[in-house]
Amino acid sequence: MKTLLRPNWIEVDQQALSNNVQQVRQLIGPHRPLMAVVKANAYGHGAVDTATVLLAAGAQCLAVATPVEGIELRQAGIQAPILVLGYTPTWLAQEAVRYQLTTTVYDVEIVHALHQAAVATGQAAARVHVKVDTGLNRLGLTPSETPGYLDTLQRFDQVQVEGIFTHFATSDGADKSFAHEQFGRFTTLLATLTARGLRPPVAHAANSAALLTMPETHLDLVRTGIALYGLHPDADDTRLPDNFRPALRWKTQVAQVRQIAAGESVSYGREFIAPQPMTIAIIPVGYADGFPRRPFHWGSVLLHGRPAPILGRVCMDQTIVDVTAIVAEDRAVQQGDEVILIGRQGAAELSADEVATRLGTNNYDVVSRILARVPRLMVETF
Ligand SMILES: Cc1ncc(COP(=O)(O)O)c(C=O)c1O
Repeated sequence: MKTLLRPNWIEVDQQALSNNVQQVRQLIGPHRPLMAVVKANAYGHGAVDTATVLLAAGAQCLAVATPVEGIELRQAGIQAPILVLGYTPTWLAQEAVRYQLTTTVYDVEIVHALHQAAVATGQAAARVHVKVDTGLNRLGLTPSETPGYLDTLQRFDQVQVEGIFTHFATSDGADKSFAHEQFGRFTTLLATLTARGLRPPVAHAANSAALLTMPETHLDLVRTGIALYGLHPDADDTRLPDNFRPALRWKTQVAQVRQIAAGESVSYGREFIAPQPMTIAIIPVGYADGFPRRPFHWGSVLLHGRPAPILGRVCMDQTIVDVTAIVAEDRAVQQGDEVILIGRQGAAELSADEVATRLGTNNYDVVSRILARVPRLMVETF
């Protein structure tokens, strides 16, 4: 186990990750490949260790957002195929080839650059997946542009068109009609490509929500992120089955406990004035850890299995919480006591979904915004 260098850290439950891979496997069958989406530092869980566990548990390949995220995995020795889902500029084509990253493509310039880089380095043909936009109106070609584009790509003999994919706008919502429409556009395109002998071997569409609720979209591979981390694609409309388990716990420890008199203020700007004598605890977490300051903050954290409300402004590296009620219950609070920012403590739980509600966002945003200076520790199980 790595030495922990800060009293503010994330624990990632290795067994929960492996369990979640097994649960996805149950849904997709034994033969369909699972592409584990580990972009944004594996949704905050720590890219290299998380990717290693997910691959060992049965994922076949990985997806990241940017070339540099793929390079980090390669430099750590990961050899599985890695698809870069986002934009690769032509000036990174050589790096993409050098690190054997699979590039998402939707214009000819990048394909030309990849072809030249593969020729120049003498390495194997550069692998690409074509991105088709079926309604999200994010990256990609329209279905009508795609056959001509694939035809053009045949000219580049050092580029191997391995895949084609699309991404849903509403697969996590209660109303799936637009997701079905998008999928219809995609399958119609695939039929056209098959008829013209242009269909790439690996077609994929399903994110976690589609994996769970639209089995017809599983196609040749599923491209799953949030479900592998044991988090709901949508806390209201697309929840995970009970046998998935959250894999991340964010912890810190009390740095100091102090008494303040009625009328004293707390933190920058003196936004909180104590209405009566209070016991406060200082915790070493702040907005430069991804524990936001404004417009909304976490509200409270867990200490001794009870909520400890945040007082005044969250600072860059420290936050002050109210422990008056906890101490009044005859529970001494002292330096070193465990504080839970995400996770369970005794019977109490502060879930990523609950935090997301308080911050006015979703659980993806809560976990992926936890910054790199918070150490990640892989543990056997919680
Ligand atoms: C293109 C693409 N595919 C797949 C995913 C994985 O989605 P999810 O985490 O909902 O499974 C994402 C994540 O946002 C994505 O951007």
